[in-house]
Formats: sequence, C-alpha cells, structure tokens
Amino acid sequence: MERECLFSGKKVQVGFDSDIDNYIMAIESSCDETACAIVKNGREVIANIVASQIKTHEKFGGVIPEIAAREHMDAINIVIEEAFAQSGLKPKDITAFAGTVGPGLVGCLLVGLNAAKTLALVHDKPFIGVNHLNAHLCANYIDTDIKPPFMALLISGGHTQIIDVESYSKQTILGETIDDAVGEAYDKVARLIGLPYPGGPKLDKLAQIGNPEAYELPISKVEGYNFSFSGLKTAVLRLVKKLKIENGNDNLTEKQINDICASFQQCVSKTLAKKLKKAMQEKGYKQVVIAGGVAANSEIRKKIFEFEKEGYKVNAPVMKYCTDNASMVASCAYFNKNTYDDVDVEVFSRVK
Ligand code: KG4
Ligand code: ZN
Repeated sequence: MERECLFSGKKVQVGFDSDIDNYIMAIESSCDETACAIVKNGREVIANIVASQIKTHEKFGGVIPEIAAREHMDAINIVIEEAFAQSGLKPKDITAFAGTVGPGLVGCLLVGLNAAKTLALVHDKPFIGVNHLNAHLCANYIDTDIKPPFMALLISGGHTQIIDVESYSKQTILGETIDDAVGEAYDKVARLIGLPYPGGPKLDKLAQIGNPEAYELPISKVEGYNFSFSGLKTAVLRLVKKLKIENGNDNLTEKQINDICASFQQCVSKTLAKKLKKAMQEKGYKQVVIAGGVAANSEIRKKIFEFEKEGYKVNAPVMKYCTDNASMVASCAYFNKNTYDDVDVEVFSRVK
C-alpha cells in the first residue's frame, strides 16, 4: 500500500504487500504504559521499550488519568531515544511512524499520538494511526507465521470480545461483555479481597496455590457470544462478607483468599473457553488466538491451549506482548489497512 510522506508528499510503500523491508516505529500511550518499539516487516521486533507507571498509580489503587498523562510527558522522549539506541537505527531508516489513536484515556493518547505525528512530520515519513484493540490482536503476528482467518478472544482491562478475524483488515465482533470487562472484574475482585493494584496478575498468582473447588460461584447465562461478569463480582462480594462474619473479624484468612482467587479464576476461564470453543465450531475455524492484558493469565492460557488436544492451532503472545506495548501497534500499522492516516485525526476514548 502506498502512503504519503507528511512533509514532501513523496509516496512510500508501507505494509505487508510492499516489496521493500519495512521498519515501523510505533508509540503506545493509551493508559499507564509509555511504550516505543521498532518492528521489521510486522513480525520481527528490533526494539521494544516500555516505561510502566504502576509504581505511581499503586498509591491510589488505580490509574488517575491526569497524573498518567503527565507521566507520559516525562517518559515519551526517553522511550523514543531508547528505542533508537536499542535498534541501532536512525530516523532515516524508519519507513513510517505509527501511534495509538484510541480507545484509551484522551490526555494520555494525545501525548503519544502527537509524538508520532511530529516524528513523521520532522523526518518526512508517513504517519499511521492505529486502533488499540486491533493492535492487541496483532501481537499474535510477532515472532510467528500466523495468518488469518482465525477466531480471537480479546481480553483486556476495558474489553472482552470474541472476534472473527477473516483477514488482516476485516474483523467482526461476534460477542462482547454487556457489563464489566474481564480485566476490570479481576481488578475489582482483587480489591475486594485486599490485593494491591494492579490486582489481576496478583490474583492469578494466588489462584495457583488455592483450591478452585472451594467455593461455587455463578457462571453467567448471557445469550450467544456475549458475556457478563458483574453477577460473578457481586457473588464474590457476598461471599467475602459472609466469610468475614464467620471469622468474627474484618479479615479473611490466607487460605480463604487463595481459595477465592482459584474459584473465581476457574469460573472466568471456563466461561471464556466455553464460548470461544462454540464460536470456533460454528465458524469451522481450526485456528484461535488470544490477546490483551488478561491473555497473560495462567489458567485462561492453560484452558485455551487445551484446545490443541482436539486438533486446534492455538496462539497466545508471550507475556510482554499481551499487556500494553508498542510492538503490537507497529505490527498493526503493517498488517491492518484500516488505519487513521490523516494527520488531523483526533484521539478517541471509546470504540465508535
Ligand atoms: O491490555 P491491558 O494491558 O490494558 C488495557 O488495554 O486494558 O490489560 C490490563 C488488564 C488489567 O485489568 C490487568 O489486571 C489485567 O490486564 N491482567 C491480568 C493479568 N495480567 C494483566 N489479569 C489476570 N491475570 C493476569 N495474569
Ligand atoms: Zn491494552
């Protein structure tokens, strides 16, 4: 695909159908990670730099948007310089500059997107704006030879979707959550049982030493491929209250915490795996991928990789490409033609 250099209007071939090697530099700043990466031909990571803000937001138990945006301002030039240093490349070697347009926190997105546009303008290269959710899916192309069609389960802090990926650029959402996203449910349940932010990974760790059969929690009965996790969250809240009354104080025992984590994790992973399998069978797909921050979860990965026993091909990005990073954004700029190339594109907070 031909794209225009921002300053001179010169045409450059960018994307999987070009016959020159592509080195795309991408920036991701939609939430609490400031990231910059350079990826060769959509699959080979040349540099991957992530500055996490977890330490800052830990104190507040969640991401404070205004503080996050300021931290992006402090980190953005550093991650760009580090990506160039790690790769040994110079701006002249970059084919195009990409940045996340949305969905995400508007103040945060503005920092990364403006940096990407500025780099493209100053170095006279094309600019490519990318959708964050599409980018999560593209993490599956990194270091693999996976090609569509396949079924995808996208599970992050803000989204839970089963997506029919027909081609690099054509995707249909078959179902999604009608209330909380999986990552959100993990973080809320973690907070209920007293785990510090970010709760998801900590809950996952404790679940591995708990008993998944200890407590019976409800599996949502939403129609089709949609999900609901708010009932499960309320059930955990009731259980925590009951256990605290039984304990005669305001605390849970270590064993109770581990068992709640394991029971919750089992319930969530069973629900996700069941609906995903159904979607694959209905479409006749033999290939499936998972993506998004929650795809780093040990039990969800395990349950979905069990599909391999039935002859399905399963892929999940390695952990560092599941959670927010810029390599997935560069890969998306290369493979997905539905991008936001207009330099005047505005950031957006929710899927339109
Ligand atoms: O994709 P991501 O990095 O950011 C969004 O785009 O939302 O996902 C972040 C979410 C958080 O809710 C975090 O708690 C969750 O992913 N997460 C996990 C694990 N690692 C990250 N949830 C469960 N188990 C994990 N191991
Ligand atoms: Zn994300």
